[in-house]
Amino acid sequence: MKGVILCGGAGTRLRPATYVVNKHLVPIGNYPMVLFPLNTIKSLGVNNILIITGGENIGDFAEFLGDGSQYGCNFTYKVQTKAGGIAEALGLAEDFVGIDNVMVILGDNIFGDLRSRADEILCPSIFVKAVNDAHRFGVFMDGKIIEKPKGVNEGEVVVGLYVYPPSVFKFIRTLKPSLRGELEITDVNNHFLEQNNVRVFRLNDIFWSDCGTPKSLANTTRHFLDNPDTIRPLV
Ligand code: DAU
Repeated sequence: MKGVILCGGAGTRLRPATYVVNKHLVPIGNYPMVLFPLNTIKSLGVNNILIITGGENIGDFAEFLGDGSQYGCNFTYKVQTKAGGIAEALGLAEDFVGIDNVMVILGDNIFGDLRSRADEILCPSIFVKAVNDAHRFGVFMDGKIIEKPKGVNEGEVVVGLYVYPPSVFKFIRTLKPSLRGELEITDVNNHFLEQNNVRVFRLNDIFWSDCGTPKSLANTTRHFLDNPDTIRPLV
């Protein structure tokens, strides 16, 4: 299994903090955000990891994280030249992943301890969690995913951790941009769901948050400072 962490995108919802600092280097407490999802995939046994970010930020990541050896990992870096969507960013990992399965994590997604779920997580899978602000996410309903449905509060949403077989790259090459001009990870997931090629696991007993907005970043920071044992950075 190879790992890919996606740290591209413009981080518009955290501006002005993200004008010169990449969103995934903004701290949660005193730890840059990227260290949390890195710890999540490393805790699941994946330590050969590709880090994808924009060209203007890649030097900051390389300077901060290095080659990964100090963390017992091997880090490779790749540039996404513009924020063309999560699926576009993942498509850049094709050569790195080769014939392996790939575990993909969004760089702004923070998870509690998943180690007790490691066996299920190592097969092609997506993960959902019940929330009360579902309209901010991809919502899983009736066996398929609807991206950011207006007016939906209670619902099961797809979290930013995905495990795919290497055939994902062939499918990404067939995608067309959505109305917002991005290659959508939800189109990839709906394809795999239709083909019965991914399993869906529920993470309702596990902490999960994104950090894409000032409020979700503040809530995650508060959770980390109050419960430092439940979400952990890579150290
Ligand atoms: O957080 C989970 C949600 O993430 C899912 O429920 C949604 O289905 C999925 O579309 C995504 O929604 P967001 O709108 O929150 O995604 P966002 O554009 O904020 O991107 C999330 C991360 O993906 C971001 O922290 C970095 C990476 N990314 C994003 C884009 C658009 C890239 O690496 N490149 C990109 O071009």
